[in-house]
Amino acid sequence: MGDVVRCQREVIDAQAHGAGLERRGGRFQPLCAAQVGAVHRERRGHMMALDGFDREARTAMVTFPGGQTWPSLGIGTWRMGESAAKRRAEVAAIRAAIDMGYRVIDTAEMYGEGGAEEAVGSAVAEAVRSGTIRRDDLFVVSKVYPHNASAKGTVAACERSLARIGLDHIDCYLLHWRGAVPLAETIGGFETLRSNGRIRAWGVSNFDLDDMQELVAVEGGSRCATNQVYYSLTARGPAFDLLPWQSARGIVTMAYSPIDQGALAASTLLRPIARRLGATPAQLALAWLLAQPGVMAIPKAARAAHLKENLDSQSLALTPHDLAQIDRVFPRPGRKTPLAMR
Ligand SMILES: NC(=O)c1ccc[n+]([C@@H]2O[C@H](COP(=O)([O-])OP(=O)(O)OC[C@H]3O[C@@H](n4cnc5c(N)ncnc54)[C@H](OP(=O)(O)O)[C@@H]3O)[C@@H](O)[C@H]2O)c1
Repeated sequence: MGDVVRCQREVIDAQAHGAGLERRGGRFQPLCAAQVGAVHRERRGHMMALDGFDREARTAMVTFPGGQTWPSLGIGTWRMGESAAKRRAEVAAIRAAIDMGYRVIDTAEMYGEGGAEEAVGSAVAEAVRSGTIRRDDLFVVSKVYPHNASAKGTVAACERSLARIGLDHIDCYLLHWRGAVPLAETIGGFETLRSNGRIRAWGVSNFDLDDMQELVAVEGGSRCATNQVYYSLTARGPAFDLLPWQSARGIVTMAYSPIDQGALAASTLLRPIARRLGATPAQLALAWLLAQPGVMAIPKAARAAHLKENLDSQSLALTPHDLAQIDRVFPRPGRKTPLAMR
């Protein structure tokens, strides 16, 4: 077995293990109860403080199919870049996020019709100039509009995004949602960009299981690194079928609208559990996502207090008892639900 194949196999096995599956006889089968308990203990780490915050917890990480690991918590930028009057404050917010330790930034050509990418670019340039970070410390995600996603159009759109962000490459470039352009064309554009070094990896967004199955059947489609979908406590549907399928293939799930555009922060269902853990409902909603291997959450926050609060969710360790309590108020999906979109 070649090194790359072995590495991919290890990544897939690790993610499947975390999702409660193991490879047996060439197929993925559920772990036994004792093994599931061990996975929970491994994930919780070795120290639990009384208030639920694991003070020694390390940043939760996700591993991409190429083997690179990045923090499971990033920031989103939707609704940024839409107004010149807010630009300075938005750049300051993204810069503050980088200074606090966020390393994953999600944006798109759609957001503010390029305005959000420009804001990301200004903040990254400031942070790099100041010496806080190096470019390669960041994982920058952007997305192409479906109507731009032909083989040539994808390359042209990416070049425009790169110019706005002021970078020489995008770490992960996604098809924002499925449109009329055949998937083979978009994959062709992505692969051109990858071989020219303009993107490091590519993925899709808002693809349900049938779309994913179609994608990987297209030549080159199995190079898809991630699928960014609406996944939160109020939108648990993907956990029924899409997440296990992606997990078994090492495809990272990026959870967008992870606090339901702010609504979960005010959830009266989460509040009692959060209070018991000394956390806020928003932190609980994020910690629930971060506890899931192969899942990355990208909450958007323009306010520094929100950025800090969300970052601190990384050290909120949830026990099986906490997770069961959450399941009671936001039940696991018992059947297929079509993927929701924002
Ligand atoms: N691929 C897609 O189709 C797609 C669709 C939707 C979103 N996304 C991506 O995912 C990112 C996140 O999703 P989203 O922006 O829809 O929703 P979200 O992250 O669930 O919520 C963002 C909202 O929650 C507020 N907020 C953040 N932290 C908070 C906290 N600790 N307490 C209370 N309120 C808090 C923010 O307020 P402030 O900003 O005022 O701090 C903002 O109004 C987007 O920005 C975008 O990058 C992708």
